[in-house]
Amino acid sequence: MSTSLSHLFDANVAWVDRKTRKDPGFFQRMAEQQSPRYVWIGCSDSRVTANDVLGLDPGEIFVHRNIANIVHTSDLNILSVLEYAVDHLQVEHIIVCGHYGCGGVARALSGERGAMLDHWLQPLTMLYHKHRATFDAFSDLRVRINRMCEVNIEMQVRRIAAMPIIEKAWARGQSLNLHGWIYAIDDGLLRDLGPHLSSIEQRDALPTIDNCVITPADPVSAVRRQAIAAFSQLDLGDACCGGDGDGLRCVAE
Ligand code: CO
Repeated sequence: MSTSLSHLFDANVAWVDRKTRKDPGFFQRMAEQQSPRYVWIGCSDSRVTANDVLGLDPGEIFVHRNIANIVHTSDLNILSVLEYAVDHLQVEHIIVCGHYGCGGVARALSGERGAMLDHWLQPLTMLYHKHRATFDAFSDLRVRINRMCEVNIEMQVRRIAAMPIIEKAWARGQSLNLHGWIYAIDDGLLRDLGPHLSSIEQRDALPTIDNCVITPADPVSAVRRQAIAAFSQLDLGDACCGGDGDGLRCVAE
């Protein structure tokens, strides 16, 4: 087996060539400064890459990724990322984006313990144990995992909203909006699940996370709305769903 990674360097040169032909000043501008408007907090999963999913160029989004997009309030990495993004880059939006079928979430529900990863996933494991009856009511394991993927996003947005970095920004009147999204690997589409938080008052008005587990905030209709909006912009012709005009069925059911 070859140990050379020359194909990656070749791909890099080809990318630079494409970029420069399209926009000769691109790299010069990149070198001068970055001014992204968004922060993306996502899973390390190799299939969920922020710039690709959003169609953004380098320089447009500040990214932090870890397994299962978890926000640990003692994690120096995410605290440093958020402090720099909020205080210095003055980003306007922080997006927590998980994904359906997340392997980290599946592990948290599996009962496996003993790896370093299980320490990382502990907030999810604890939430699962507390609401085991609710989650286990979904007999289909895939559905159960996906439901936890949604709740995980809700929980992590709330954790960000409780950080002093964020509270201070809101207190001084900085415009800063938190969002909870989920991505489906099997169709490439994003869903806006919420919560949306732009102030301490909105954060404090939320029901408890336990309440969210027991009473989901209508995730099915949120998925459908996002799917309808996304599909209305795609030119799929008759390639989808046998051309019966009901493209929604492909993604929402
Ligand atoms: Co994942």
